[in-house]
Amino acid sequence: MSCRIAVFGTGYLGATHAACMAELGHEVLGVDVDVSKLAKLEAGEVPFYEPGLEEVLKRNLESGRLRFTSSYREAADFADIHFIGVGTPQRKGEYAADLTYVDSVIEQLVPLLTRSTTIFGKSTVPVGTAQRLGARMRQLVPAGVDVDLAWNPEFLREGFAVQDTLHPDRLVLGVDSVDPGNAEDIARLVYSDLLDEGIPLLVTDLATAELVKTAANAFLATKISFINAMAEVCEVAGADVSVLADAIGHDVRIGRRFLNAGIGFGGGCLPKDIRAFMARAGELGADEALTFLREVDNINMRRRTRMVELTREAVGGSLLGSRIAILGAAFKPDSDDVRDSPALNIAGQIQLQGASVNVFDPKAMDNSRAIFPTLNYASSSLEACEGADVVMVLTEWREFKDLDPVEIGIVVRNRTILDGRNCLDGSRWANAGWRYRGLGRRPIEGGRDDHAEGGSARA
Ligand code: UGA
Repeated sequence: MSCRIAVFGTGYLGATHAACMAELGHEVLGVDVDVSKLAKLEAGEVPFYEPGLEEVLKRNLESGRLRFTSSYREAADFADIHFIGVGTPQRKGEYAADLTYVDSVIEQLVPLLTRSTTIFGKSTVPVGTAQRLGARMRQLVPAGVDVDLAWNPEFLREGFAVQDTLHPDRLVLGVDSVDPGNAEDIARLVYSDLLDEGIPLLVTDLATAELVKTAANAFLATKISFINAMAEVCEVAGADVSVLADAIGHDVRIGRRFLNAGIGFGGGCLPKDIRAFMARAGELGADEALTFLREVDNINMRRRTRMVELTREAVGGSLLGSRIAILGAAFKPDSDDVRDSPALNIAGQIQLQGASVNVFDPKAMDNSRAIFPTLNYASSSLEACEGADVVMVLTEWREFKDLDPVEIGIVVRNRTILDGRNCLDGSRWANAGWRYRGLGRRPIEGGRDDHAEGGSARA
């Protein structure tokens, strides 16, 4: 059965959710205050890079099932079901989440409601938020209108957003334990295709649903920092963290996924979510429970510093006057997102230490330029590497894994490659005469370092 749905927020989460709900056959209205974003979406253009999303967007715009608006009034009149998918960024100068946008949806939407409605929150929020919003909603709702608030966290990964929305590994629904209303029935209707596919739906209270989301991201962050801590030990012990990860990953209780050591996690979710989680636990008087997340954060940030140190070592002790090629700016491949990107952060630190930095990323150039206009941006990997003393791979795009070490070797000044994501075949680079260095792995020396025409890296 087709439902009438409004989705508030048209960022990574909201735009994907709106398009995918239409793909499931529902009639959907995407709502945002940013009219330039809406204009793009209405024209079938996704305002960020997300593989496969544009096709879903276009298909559903054409079918008429998907529309966009900036009018809350239109959304309230049109939809029986409302999803909140606005951002919850880190508050400036604090660890806590900024809930302004979530609050604003409730404040603006609820007074306009004219008939029975279910509101599903999808944004990542500190535990206790749904209960607070529910209380506020009951103050704002017009007399005679019945409205339920439920929490339905989202687990999609950028780069796999469509797949993760249409075929998630689980659905989680938090309902008010005092007055659950019919939110579960409505969710079963909205997600009927997914449930038919056998995807489990876990129904719980509001607080648990909120916590499932933050706990999942905290666990993923911890897993990454765990392997990066092992990388630190491997480095001093002369061991290899990639082999170690493969070996422990065979134990199904541990699992190999999310055990890739490198320059660590970034993006719009994991870093801010673990910080907001710590802040919220502190407010609730359970700060001791999450002090380990501070260490998870520390290990993660230390990887960036370590990468800068390795680059400095590779050019003989000082970055001043050196030329560094940086391949990758996005926080991960198949995304143009540079929010808290380790790659761009490292590029900035290296430039601050006096190096001339040439950055190339297949998709994140515009976003990088916007936040880091002072870096040099090349139009290809080869151009970024011209005359480089060190080449650094900081985002594991397929295109970088497939680079030809011989071809790149011709244009650089020194054949030194630093693999910040342990994604390259080190011996292939060494065989082409490169000095290869990964993180948490022994360096591989491949013949002479200096390129015949270039001479030494430093004057
Ligand atoms: C993350 C979660 O994986 C999603 O489940 C969640 O829904 C989302 O946050 C969110 O809260 O919205 P995402 O930020 O898209 O998704 O990115 P991830 O794939 O989790 O990667 C995060 C970072 O960890 C990246 O910088 C990546 O390079 C890094 N990473 C990942 C590693 O350093 N090592 C690994 O083994 C895996």
